[in-house]
Amino acid sequence: MTIRVNLAESSYDIQIENNAIDRCGNLFDKYNKVFIVTDSGVPKEYSERVAKSANGKAVVFVMKRGEENKNFVTLMNICNDMLTNGLTRKDCVCAVGGGVVGDITAFAASIYMRGIDFYNFPTTLLSMVDSSSGGKTGIDFGNVKNVIGTFYQPKKVIIDPSVLKTLSERQVRCGLAEALKMAATFDSKLFDFMSKGSFTDGEMQHIIERSVELKKSIVEKDVKEKSIRKSLNFGHTIGHGIEVAGKESRYHGECVAIGMVAMSSSDSSALFTR
Ligand SMILES: NC(=O)c1ccc[n+]([C@@H]2O[C@H](COP(=O)([O-])OP(=O)(O)OC[C@H]3O[C@@H](n4cnc5c(N)ncnc54)[C@H](O)[C@@H]3O)[C@@H](O)[C@H]2O)c1
Repeated sequence: MTIRVNLAESSYDIQIENNAIDRCGNLFDKYNKVFIVTDSGVPKEYSERVAKSANGKAVVFVMKRGEENKNFVTLMNICNDMLTNGLTRKDCVCAVGGGVVGDITAFAASIYMRGIDFYNFPTTLLSMVDSSSGGKTGIDFGNVKNVIGTFYQPKKVIIDPSVLKTLSERQVRCGLAEALKMAATFDSKLFDFMSKGSFTDGEMQHIIERSVELKKSIVEKDVKEKSIRKSLNFGHTIGHGIEVAGKESRYHGECVAIGMVAMSSSDSSALFTR
């Protein structure tokens, strides 16, 4: 399935297909070099498979995993490696990983030489259903999440649901929380569908496809988050606070889930006095 995000000259496709990471060779034909960023927790196999498609033109940069590394130091190291490898605007940058890799790599792509082509290969459920599309990039700074960043759309998003086979149950639940946010705000049918709690691979693919369609339709209406896109921050204000205060002991999706429960409760104070 391919979903088109219509944003005038920044339009792009989101491809959702099992084993898509092995079939992206023609994407790279027009580039001299393909700079791939991944993290130490993403199975190496995935960046290697994307690199193989690049026919010897790939350079792989591995950052340390974890939200605490979505910062200026890692950004500087990524930019430094891009420079050392002689990247120019005739080249491209790819993120192969979850939302952390996606956010920081897209940010680097948006500022390097005032913008170099960027492709996103999300490998967590959370990044598939939410963070890989929409163009929000960034890093955390001064204990504030995503406070430094840009809006920068990818050239294409390639979602390969088969890579979820190596993702932990806990991380899958984080992704389901962001999909549930999409359903709770914009699609009661998806919300009902998700209420059953456990899903086959086919059902999971349906959740990914529907979430991506919902996000696309919202981003097309309000790309810079001036109005309706703010709804997608449901649960995030409280969630970000918990995430920062907990020094990453809880994952992003878990914090958003707690935030949504608090916002939906008629007596949210009960949640915070326990
Ligand atoms: N840009 C946006 O619109 C947007 C939206 C929502 C969230 N976010 C950001 O996304 C981030 C959270 O993303 P996340 O939940 O993907 O976390 P993450 O990127 O930290 O990934 C979670 C963990 O899973 C590992 N991993 C990734 N893919 C794997 C795979 N296929 N198999 C096994 N392990 C794998 C990673 O190494 C990491 O340790 C936060 O920084 C949040 O702010 C951004």
